[in-house]
Amino acid sequence: MSETKGGVAGVQEQTRSVRELICISGLKVIFSSRSGPVRAVDSVDLAIREGERIGLIGESGSGKTVTGMAILGLLPVNAVIIGKIRYGDYDLLTAPDRTLQQIRGNEIAMISQNSGSSLNPVMKIGDQVAEPLVIHRICSVPDAHREAIRILAELGFDDPEQAATRYPHEFSGGMRERILIAIALVCRPHLIVADEPTAGLDAQVRARILKLITSQISGNRTLFLITHDLGAASYLCDRIAVMYAGEIVECGPAKDVLSLPLHPYTQGLIASLPSAGLHPIPGMSPSPASLPRGCRFCERCPAVLDRCDCDHPELVFTESGRQVRCFHYD
Ligand SMILES: Nc1ncnc2c1ncn2[C@@H]1O[C@H](COP(=O)(O)OP(=O)(O)O)[C@@H](O)[C@H]1O
Ligand SMILES: [Mg+2]
Repeated sequence: MSETKGGVAGVQEQTRSVRELICISGLKVIFSSRSGPVRAVDSVDLAIREGERIGLIGESGSGKTVTGMAILGLLPVNAVIIGKIRYGDYDLLTAPDRTLQQIRGNEIAMISQNSGSSLNPVMKIGDQVAEPLVIHRICSVPDAHREAIRILAELGFDDPEQAATRYPHEFSGGMRERILIAIALVCRPHLIVADEPTAGLDAQVRARILKLITSQISGNRTLFLITHDLGAASYLCDRIAVMYAGEIVECGPAKDVLSLPLHPYTQGLIASLPSAGLHPIPGMSPSPASLPRGCRFCERCPAVLDRCDCDHPELVFTESGRQVRCFHYD
C-alpha cells in the first residue's frame, strides 16, 4: 500500500500545503431535551494544524466528545449544529453524507471512548481491522487482511495471525484498545481523533498505550486528543485547549498551559492533580441546559471580579500569543 493517496476528491493533496488541517469556527451544538435546549458546545473556534498533537481537556460534560463527534459528522439527529468545520475544500458540517463516509475512517479516523462497546462482538479481529481498507476500496480483501496482520504485529500482538482469528471478548481491555488503534490507523489517516484512549486502563497498560500512540503519530499525521487525563495530554500534546461548560477557556503550548496556567479553571484542574496535592475545584460546572449570563466559571472561581457575574468574557490573545477567556487578562 502506498503512503500517499488522493483521498476524497484529493482533499489530502489539497490540505498538504495548508497549515491548518481543520478549522473549526463558531461551532455551536445544541441538543433538544425535555428540560429545554442543552448548549453542549458554544461558539468554539479552534484550528488543528497539520502535523501537530493537540489536546482538548476539561471536566466531564464540558463538551469535548461532542466537539470530536462534530468533526466526524457523528452527532445524533437531535443536535442543532451551527458554524463551520473546514477540511480542505469541505465544510464537514454541510458536506454530503457520501463525502463524509469517504473521509471518515480513511482521512479522519477516531479512536473512541470505551473500547469494550466499540468493537463488534461477533466479528473476528482480523476482519474488523481490515474492514476500513475494504470499505474505502483501498485494496483487495486478501491485501486488506495482510495489512491488518501487519498492523496488529506493529501494535504489539505477538502472534498477529492467530489474534486476527479471535473475537473481542478474548482480549483484555488494553489489547482491545490496541485493536481500536489498529482500526483507526489501518488506512493511514491524516487526522486521528482519540477520545479518552486511556480511560479505564490500569497504569501499566495506560503507559503502553500512550507510548504506542506516540510512536504511531509521526510525520504529517495529526492527533486531536480528547481527554480529562492531564498526564496523557502533557505526554502526548504540543498544544492544549481547555474546555469548560461548552467553551474554550484557554489555549496555548502544552508546556506553558500546564506549567503556567492562565485561566483560574486551568489552575484549578492542575491543583487537583495528585502531584499538586489533590485540591479539587469546589462546586460543579453549570448545566448546559441553564448556563449563567456572565463568566461560566464565576461561581467556582477563587479570583472572581464584580463584572464576572453579569458580563461574558471573550477568548482573547495575551501578549505571549496564548489565548484565555478571563477578565483578568482583558
Ligand atoms: N445526545 C445528547 N442529547 C442531549 N445531551 C447530550 C447528548 N450528548 C451529549 N449531551 C450533553 O452535552 C454535554 C457535553 O457532553 P460531552 O461532549 O459528552 O462531554 P465530555 O466529553 O466533555 O465529557 C453534556 O452535558 C451531555 O450531557
Ligand atoms: Mg467525553
